[in-house]
Amino acid sequence: MRNPPLSETVIRGAVNKKLPHDSAIKQVSGEAEYIDDIPEPKDLLHLYVAQSPYAHAKILKMDLQAVKSSPGVVAVYDANDVPGINDASPVAGDDPVFAEDIVEYAGQALFVVAANSIQEARAAAKRAEIEYEELEALVTIDQALAAGSFVMPSKTLLRGNPEQAINSAPNRLNGRFEIGGQDHFYLEGQIALAYPREDGDVHVFSSTQHPTEVQHNVAKFLDIPDHSVTVEVRRMGGGFGGKETQGAWFAAMAALAAKDTGRPAKLRLDRDDDMIMTGKRHDFVIEYNVGYDNDGRLDGIDFTFASRCGRSADLSAAINDRTIFHADNCYYLKDVRITSHRCKTHTVSNTAFRGFGGPQGMIAIERVMDEIAHKLGKDPLDVRKVNLYGKTDRNVTPYHMTVEDNVAPEIIRELEEKSDYAKRRDAIRKFNETSPFLKKGIALTPVKFGISFTTTFLNQAGALLHVYTDGSVMLNHGGTEMGQGLFIKVAQVVAQELQIDIERIKITSTRTDKVPNTSATAASSGSDMNGKAAQAAARKIKERLIKFAADHYNVDRADIIFKPNRIDIGEKTVGFAELVQQAYFNRVSLSATGYYRTPKIHYDAENYSGRPFYYFAYGAAVSEAIIDTLTGENKITRVDIIHDVGKSLNPSIDLGQVEGGFIQGMGWLTTEELYFDEKGLLRTHAPSTYKIPACSDRPEIFNMELYESGENVEDSIHKSKAVGEPPFMLAISAFNALTDAVYSASDYKSFPNLDAPATPECILKAIHELDGKVT
Ligand code: MTE
Ligand code: HPA
Ligand code: MOS
Repeated sequence: MRNPPLSETVIRGAVNKKLPHDSAIKQVSGEAEYIDDIPEPKDLLHLYVAQSPYAHAKILKMDLQAVKSSPGVVAVYDANDVPGINDASPVAGDDPVFAEDIVEYAGQALFVVAANSIQEARAAAKRAEIEYEELEALVTIDQALAAGSFVMPSKTLLRGNPEQAINSAPNRLNGRFEIGGQDHFYLEGQIALAYPREDGDVHVFSSTQHPTEVQHNVAKFLDIPDHSVTVEVRRMGGGFGGKETQGAWFAAMAALAAKDTGRPAKLRLDRDDDMIMTGKRHDFVIEYNVGYDNDGRLDGIDFTFASRCGRSADLSAAINDRTIFHADNCYYLKDVRITSHRCKTHTVSNTAFRGFGGPQGMIAIERVMDEIAHKLGKDPLDVRKVNLYGKTDRNVTPYHMTVEDNVAPEIIRELEEKSDYAKRRDAIRKFNETSPFLKKGIALTPVKFGISFTTTFLNQAGALLHVYTDGSVMLNHGGTEMGQGLFIKVAQVVAQELQIDIERIKITSTRTDKVPNTSATAASSGSDMNGKAAQAAARKIKERLIKFAADHYNVDRADIIFKPNRIDIGEKTVGFAELVQQAYFNRVSLSATGYYRTPKIHYDAENYSGRPFYYFAYGAAVSEAIIDTLTGENKITRVDIIHDVGKSLNPSIDLGQVEGGFIQGMGWLTTEELYFDEKGLLRTHAPSTYKIPACSDRPEIFNMELYESGENVEDSIHKSKAVGEPPFMLAISAFNALTDAVYSASDYKSFPNLDAPATPECILKAIHELDGKVT
């Protein structure tokens, strides 16, 4: 009997279709349920977290008597009330949920008040009597570097002999570049709702990208086994990395209150508290020392990256590693040193944010490309081109991984043509000659982004699939939905596998009691990994159905073909639900788990050597900008993008990710400015002072397309590529275009020292510095 691979029997299906997000209608109508929408039980406790007003201080005395006796207060908890371990960190064990003797950032949690209303909880918290001894606070990266203050040891990647290569190069340059952080500004803030259950168990609804880590942290905090904690999330109102680790603090507090009082407990941060209390994208100070030839090709490069990690390690090790892994972007760095300092400051612990350190590495090398072009009087695109990775040589990354799927040259060529880059660049130069105050700029910048968790063991996923006897299907997997469209993509994979309509599949909330020991939905690998895991589960059930049908109808299994909602079994045709029922009555299991581990990856973290990534995602963008040299005001007027998602699982969702990623990246590099004062207090903690992009900031002309010839060379789910993070970095082109516009203010004679974000103030400062400065 022939035993065909299952994929051969797939006729057509839901994959590659432009299906809408499963929650799209519910989200616009308001029916989509977020945690704060869950109907409140009548005995619900409301929690409010009291925060440290100092960035660094010793707690001399904390008297909470008055808080406890305030009206409506049911319980108050601080570090002394933790039954287990007072920590909710991802890796290092250094994130106390409640401060102990010392506070290390302004906004750090001191204690939590559980009251009958949030107003009562807030009012009570103010009545604490606390005495501090203020200590010196290290706020900036430079202060931490000077003090030798780090959350972990510095790291260096070295290949070849960069000193020698730089010193013997025909041309050299060096510089310093500062890059700001970014608040996640998810629409739904951090929130947890905990229910007490029998046997001292807890059920926690947590807005988290990482239910398993929340489960483990809550269990450890309460000193109960993992099996006594269930964490559930149907969807987040955005995560962007900000809910990869830090939601655990609030889940732990809510769980403690619920378990201790026997009443459900909700903790929801308001916007200001969320911005003050939770970590952001790492800001960086970068130094570079470069040698290059007369074509602009790099001979040697020495980068020093220093990031502000804040008070604890959080994910800073992996984030700063990813900076190192992306300091090449699409370019071959032969002789290279990359030093990475992970600075400990008395500010909130910075965390994952879309791109995960990659964007900061990439913008650094793009800055170098622009500066080389200026020195040689060349078009920056020509300098970029001579530095691109080769296909057969010059194709090994500084971490010794061979780039086998390089499509950057093709994408760049196509985009250059489609966007009319050369003609527009000439026209812009002409415009600038005759326009005294308004200046335009343009830049084409490519993106290469490594896909996989660099922490190799995280590259695994699980799924759970039930087929009920009416032919409807329940789909569950370890991935979480944060708006990125993961759930519809995974449902499409299952629909395709079973050849059923997508409507038959129930997309369900992520729960630690359904699929255990999951990784965070992060590193853009959600659909890659959960898609494969769900496919594996569907294939198990399909295989059982085929085996059953072959026996039951006595036909060759090669003659059993899954067609849309029905199965051809030899001469007969049976509906999907009918076959499922028959299988049930013949005692065939209709439930299966699926599991996936990413193949081929291995990596030695000590030596920065191996294959940390399964593959790379590519894209390129051309941005055009206009600035007012009198005010610094600026606008990105036109953007053209070609982005590679392999064979798209869902082109509508993918284009949404490209657009959203670009705009979020543009916000990071243009308008979003985090300002910590000299005492370490965050002064920009609401939309009044922190400006995310608005609809009017969207470029008037915004042409996006998916790379048509895109196909993953690896065996990814249906040959697709991850899309969550990579497009974020397309926005580097917007920054490069602004740089070009500022550059023109010196008649292209002085390269501007433009830092990010390029706010109007920053642009004006760079223009003023140009006066009299010719490099
Ligand atoms: N898109 C939306 N709408 N909301 C989000 O929170 N997070 C981004 C990206 N796209 C995010 C998003 C980040 S940081 C990651 S890692 C990926 O989605 C995670 O989802 P995926 O792996 O399923 O792409
Ligand atoms: N990306 C996102 N989250 C992570 C990673 C990564 O590479 N490694 C560990 N957590
Ligand atoms: Mo995304 S920063 O990996 O959550």
